[in-house]
Amino acid sequence: MDLDRTLGRPILRSYLREQTSDLHQRLDAQVGSFASVAQYRAFVGQSLTFRRMAEPVCAGFAPWNALSLIDDMASDLADLDGALPLSSPSPVVLRDPAARLGALYVLEGSSLGARLLFRRAEALGFTERFGARHLARQSGDRERWRAFVELLDASTFAPSAVAAGAVLLFEAALEIYGEALIG
Ligand code: HEM
Repeated sequence: MDLDRTLGRPILRSYLREQTSDLHQRLDAQVGSFASVAQYRAFVGQSLTFRRMAEPVCAGFAPWNALSLIDDMASDLADLDGALPLSSPSPVVLRDPAARLGALYVLEGSSLGARLLFRRAEALGFTERFGARHLARQSGDRERWRAFVELLDASTFAPSAVAAGAVLLFEAALEIYGEALIG
């Protein structure tokens, strides 16, 4: 694990990645490889359900605002002729600012994987203007992730309290993405 050389403590980003890597792997396996339009459509619907739940609970963490992808996801779903999801899972309960920072790590970090997912969606014929606008937008701003990692690594919260929020949100995502694929 990387260490902050001045303080001898683990770099928070590396710690969070390590603490959530099993959950992330399970999520990858659930989401699948977009082998068909139906699979991609199901992914977009599940992502919309997830972000509708997660974005509001992560809001209000000054000095960071999570990127909102809800409108772009709804437009993508309409392009894909998908019905808007009806399910609204209970919001995760983030007990303190440390947990909220950990949850934000999950939302912001998902932009890294979005680059790969955008290429997979392109292979199905979707673009930044049709069907895959949320993935294009999410992966379009590399500076944003760099800035977020700086915020993370400057934090003085107990790493375990931040990781608790990240784990909670990953577990909620696993439940949502694990729901039966919609036609
Ligand atoms: C099939 C679906 C997914 C794939 C293939 C995938 C793939 C990836 C890849 C390749 C990275 C590392 C990129 C890099 O280091 O440049 C990454 C990072 C990350 N992804 Fe995913 N991802 C997927 C879905 C998700 C979802 C749905 C979430 C959250 C709900 C998520 C959360 C994260 C987080 C937090 C990181 C940052 C890890 C770090 O600190 O480096 N991913 N993903």
